[in-house]
Amino acid sequence: DWTMDSLIDGAIAQIREQVGGAKVLCALSGGVDSSVAAALVHRAIGSQLTAVFVDHGLLRAGESEAVMNTLGGQLGIDVIRVDASERFLGKLQDVRDPERKRKIIGEEFIRVFEAESERLGPFDFLVQGTLYTDVIESGTATAATIKSHHNVGGLPEDMKFQVIEPLRELFKDEVRALGEALGLPSSLVWRQPFPGPGLAIRIIGAVTPERLAIVRDSDAILREEIAKAGLERAVWQYFTVLTGVQSVGVMGDERTYAHTIAIRAVVSQEGMTADWARLPYEVLERISTRIVNEVRSVNRVVYDITSKPPATIEWE
Ligand code: XMP
Repeated sequence: DWTMDSLIDGAIAQIREQVGGAKVLCALSGGVDSSVAAALVHRAIGSQLTAVFVDHGLLRAGESEAVMNTLGGQLGIDVIRVDASERFLGKLQDVRDPERKRKIIGEEFIRVFEAESERLGPFDFLVQGTLYTDVIESGTATAATIKSHHNVGGLPEDMKFQVIEPLRELFKDEVRALGEALGLPSSLVWRQPFPGPGLAIRIIGAVTPERLAIVRDSDAILREEIAKAGLERAVWQYFTVLTGVQSVGVMGDERTYAHTIAIRAVVSQEGMTADWARLPYEVLERISTRIVNEVRSVNRVVYDITSKPPATIEWE
């Protein structure tokens, strides 16, 4: 429509004027904001933009491929994917504390991104997917940080770039509309919030390839069933957690002693407060049956019925 077209035209003109013929770098996380920012800048300056996608190996099933297919393939952005999963898993070995997981992942992300930008650069500009709400929030100090919300994709403090923030006057819903106008698929534009540290903070205790597979596979089943039930937009966030609890079960004539998966699904406005989602019993039943049948070494599924506060949305 007219407003969106003129918004895009205005942004493109501004980006071109700011950048000239210089080389521009951006970090893709798989999230809405960095994807829309990249798509917009690409529309303005084409091959002057290089996007680096640090794949920490902690994304959900299919997400890494989706980033490459849509942003690289469909939109034609020059996306460099760095498969750093082994490096991240190595750093996370035996780490159980949630805040340490966040810190390690955030720091490691910056290291990999810096190394890659040095290899590909030099670049004069860095694209940031900062939204209007981020601008407001960073201006007002909150009383206490409950968790260090380290946003993977955040700006490395000592990197010497000029910053381009093409979304800094927009709210989230405007960013989604912009993304759709730029040709991004609705699965990406309407992606539920997903934490920068990824699945690592949905695994209570150590992050190992086996435990990662359990949480990723069960999450894929949950997402599939929520989609089939047509509940994707009604629920703010939904995911599974590997609780770290093992319990006794029975399979055939055999006693089992295996993992417990928790389902977390909440309704919320902005994530600051949240209520547990009243998912229909039939949907919960299908999810539970499928997870126990299809995910190895899981014999129990529980549903988290706490709201935020006092609980948080994530378990870590
Ligand atoms: P909590 O668990 O604090 O989460 O109720 C509120 C929202 O923030 C997301 N979240 C994070 N996002 N890095 C992020 O980028 C993080 O470390 C992080 N921790 C929580 C969470 O998924 C929810 O949407």
